[in-house]
Amino acid sequence: MIRKVLTRLGKEFFWTKGDLHTNYGVVKEKDLEQCTNSVKSHEDKEFVVFDAGFIDQFNKINRGPAVMIPKDIGIILAYSGVGKDSFVLDAGTGCGVAASFLARLVRKVVTYEVNQDFFNIARKNFEFLEIKNVEQKLADVYEGIPEKGLDLIVLDLPEPWKALNHAHNSLKSGCFLVAYLPTITQVGKLVSESSGFLHFKTVEVLEREWYVEGVKVRPKSQMIGHTGFLVFLRKI
Ligand SMILES: C[S@@+](CC[C@H](N)C(=O)[O-])C[C@H]1O[C@@H](n2cnc3c(N)ncnc32)[C@H](O)[C@@H]1O
Repeated sequence: MIRKVLTRLGKEFFWTKGDLHTNYGVVKEKDLEQCTNSVKSHEDKEFVVFDAGFIDQFNKINRGPAVMIPKDIGIILAYSGVGKDSFVLDAGTGCGVAASFLARLVRKVVTYEVNQDFFNIARKNFEFLEIKNVEQKLADVYEGIPEKGLDLIVLDLPEPWKALNHAHNSLKSGCFLVAYLPTITQVGKLVSESSGFLHFKTVEVLEREWYVEGVKVRPKSQMIGHTGFLVFLRKI
């Protein structure tokens, strides 16, 4: 059993077994196993308890290279329209963040990674998250894509234009290739070399979180700065 334990002030703990020792007192193992809602520590401090969900476990995975973040992953899922029958290719795997979110929604993800260390980190992360519909390949996606009939290709690597021909042969007509690129010069090069695709749109997603406490309700003064541009190309 994996449970998430929270104080009312938002301090978070991840519990699997044994007594939980915190700055707010010790919470007994049997209380954590049995409670459905909240428990108290030996210092009479209250903790909210629930079973850890995917997102709680996801926050515990091991990190490798830069990862795609939720604001960018969400828009790929929404605009591409992938669903439970979709077959998706993802490259590079990195530590498997984009592949994990995709795998939660689609039938199958095949993910390519050239770096053995990152491949191994991702393998452990898929195991930890109990994701079984991801096939990992230690391979260079620029060299070829034997899979056919793909519903979506996501490329999060420096030179996606090198994979355009293979991607075109492997995607179904009308389906999307999405490239995640940090610089606008890369976007220009990719789109200028993307014959055989329609440039559907290029977007940058800005997420601004708000501070909410009583009547003090305002945007937080800091926000995530630039992450990447998302280029949506549609196979014709
Ligand atoms: C920015 S990371 C990808 C992060 C990943 N999308 C995620 O959300 O966790 C880029 C990855 O692409 C891999 N890579 C670079 N060129 C590649 C290629 N030609 N084929 C496969 N993987 C490649 C790198 O080793 C690196 O792990």
